[in-house]
Order: sequence, then structure tokens, then C-alpha cells
Amino acid sequence: MRHAAITAVGHFLPDERLTNADLERMVDTNDEWIRTRTGIRERRILRDDDKGTSYMAARAAQDLLERRGITADEIDVIIVATVTPDMFFPATACLVQNAIGASNAWGFDLSAACSGFLFGLTTGARFVESGQHEKVLVIGADKMSAITDYTDRSTCILFGDAAAAVLLEPEESGCGLLDAALHIDGDGWEALCMRGGGSLNPPTYETIDKRMHFLHQEGRAVFRVAVQGMADISAEIMERNGLTGDDVRYLVPHQANQRIIDATARRMGISSDKVMLNIDRYGNTTAATIPLCLHDWEPELRRGDNLVLAAFGGGFTWGAAYVKWAYDGSDVAVPQEAVAEAEG
Ligand code: ACO
Repeated sequence: MRHAAITAVGHFLPDERLTNADLERMVDTNDEWIRTRTGIRERRILRDDDKGTSYMAARAAQDLLERRGITADEIDVIIVATVTPDMFFPATACLVQNAIGASNAWGFDLSAACSGFLFGLTTGARFVESGQHEKVLVIGADKMSAITDYTDRSTCILFGDAAAAVLLEPEESGCGLLDAALHIDGDGWEALCMRGGGSLNPPTYETIDKRMHFLHQEGRAVFRVAVQGMADISAEIMERNGLTGDDVRYLVPHQANQRIIDATARRMGISSDKVMLNIDRYGNTTAATIPLCLHDWEPELRRGDNLVLAAFGGGFTWGAAYVKWAYDGSDVAVPQEAVAEAEG
């Protein structure tokens, strides 16, 4: 059977770091509270006013193309998962297509908040499995600093900016995306949303005064459903694929809160050394967290490794996917620029 396998990863992180100490100077919070409640120490922020999400997404795509050793005109489809598009339209995917010169691609944006990458991965896989396309680029990218209220201590400590990407290609020998379980429940929309700017509440002086162009989150309410949702769906995907904790090489969780991740790992019966965790360095980068983990852990990954990807986000949206990794990460020739960045 033809599966869609991840055959390359790429990423982009802005240079500027926003630390807990910086936030202590901006709102009534402290490093200890942030670390113990969320696990976050710092996040990256894209400061340049003239750069939006498409800039980061294109940089991540270029990194991926270099690692895979292919050119942009070989890409068939570009899917950008984001809740912070450069603008309503054109789609961020169009801007990325133009920036990287993917002259043969079509594509679109996908809005599913923190589950965006999982939804994009599943959607992209269908184009490959059906035989319609050979190379599908799935990018998770969010400039969360553009919609974060830096006077609201309950949300501004959480989010960061980043982009990361994977390439999906056909695989005939059992690796790739093997299963996915995805859900939405709009009943919870008010607990995590950005009310202003759309067709319901177009921008006015009033929407600005009421701070409706910033992300709003009822943290405690979302926490409760996120813990349950992510743990349940991860357990479900393991059960229906006959996986035990021992069979799973890594849990690749959306990075919203370390306590949610720990609870999911406990429920799956897997130890902390098998959990990809980089929330301390980047915070919650919404659609970028899962591919960013795959990028950071790529050198450790081996062909045949069983991964469970899981996410919960605004909407509500949530899901889990079972991926059998398709290549040895240690064999990837990392571009020189990326080596310098990691060492510097
Ligand atoms: N510093 C210090 N104190 C704070 C801060 C802060 N930054 N923020 C809130 N507090 C206070 C609150 O005011 C409250 O004080 P009170 O008890 O006197 O009222 C107390 O700390 C506890 O507040 P809670 O909101 O109950 O804190 P909680 O332990 O729930 O942690 C958090 C908050 C981190 C936001 C957590 O609820 C969470 O992670 N929620 C889920 C996030 C998530 O998964 N979102 C989905 C993905 S995001 C997306 O889709 C875009």
C-alpha cells in the first residue's frame, strides 16, 4: 500500500529571545510561576515589522529543500497551517510559493490552531496516498507575537514565533502516516479565540479599545479539556494500532503546557525520556510545535521508529497520529548555515 512518509524536515526560528526575566519587567509575573505552571523559560520573537508568518514559513521551506537536496519547482502542493496568516487573503501558501519559487505547486492555508499541523499532515497525506501528487510540503507557522496581548499576564507568557515544515513523499514498504484520529468541537470556541478582525467583528475603534484583536484564552477551562482530550486521543490511537508504551519510540506532543504533556505520557505508559519536549526553549508556537520537535529530534530518529503525534487547540480541535518514521536522521546532510546557528 502507498503511504505518505515524512522524508525531510526544516525549520526557522527568529533570533530574538523573550525570557521570563524580560516578562517580569512587562507584567506582574515571575520566573518561578511560569516555569512550574507551564515549563517555559524563553520564547523566540520575530521583531521585524515588515515580516509576517510567510517569511518564517518560507525560510523553513528553504531549509527543508536544502536538507532534502531538491529544488522548489519539484514541490506539488504547499499546505500552511496557521492562525496568524500575513493577511486574510491571499493565502500564506501563495506568498510562500512565490518566495521560494515553487513554480509547479498549488496550495492553501489551513486553520486549526494548535492542531493545525496534524490536520495539515493528514490532509497532505491523502494527496500522496491517492497517487495524485509526489511531493507535498506541510508547514506549521505562527507569528503569535502579532496577536498576543503583552499586558495580559495569563497569555503573554505562553506564546512564541516559529515555523517548521515536513515533506511528504510516497513510501511503499510500511513507513509513513499509518493512522490519524481527528476531532473538532465548536462548543468550546469562546474559551480560546480572537474575536476581532473577521466578518463578525470587523476592525473598528471599539474592537481595538476592547482588545478584540488579541488572542483570548480562559486558561483553566482549556487546561481541563486539553489534558483529557490529548490523553484520550493518544491512548485511542495506540489501542487501535495495537501499540504499548514499549512500542512507541517517541511521543511528539503539541507544546502548550508541560503539565498537559506529562499527563498524556503517563496515560500512554511511556517514560519522560521518550517525550519530545522543547517548550522550555520556544514556548507555544501553535502550528509549529510538532514539526519543530521533529526537526530538533531528527538526528535521533531511525527508520521504523514508531511516533505518536498529539495536539489540542482552539476550536476546539484535537487529534493524534501514528507515524512510522521513514529514514535515519543521522544520515541527513545539515546545511552549513544551520550548523553555524546550532553552534552559535
Ligand atoms: N504569573 C503569575 N500569576 C499568574 C499568571 C502569571 N503569568 N497568570 C495567571 N496567574 C494567576 C491567576 O491570576 C490565578 O490567580 P488567583 O488564583 O489569585 O485567581 C492563578 O495564577 C492561577 O491561574 P490559573 O489560570 O488557574 O493557572 P493555571 O494553573 O491554569 O495555568 C495556564 C494557566 C498556563 C494558561 C494553563 O491554564 C494552561 O496551560 N491552559 C491550557 C493551554 C492550552 O492547552 N491551550 C490550547 C492550545 S493554545 C492554541 O490553540 C492557540
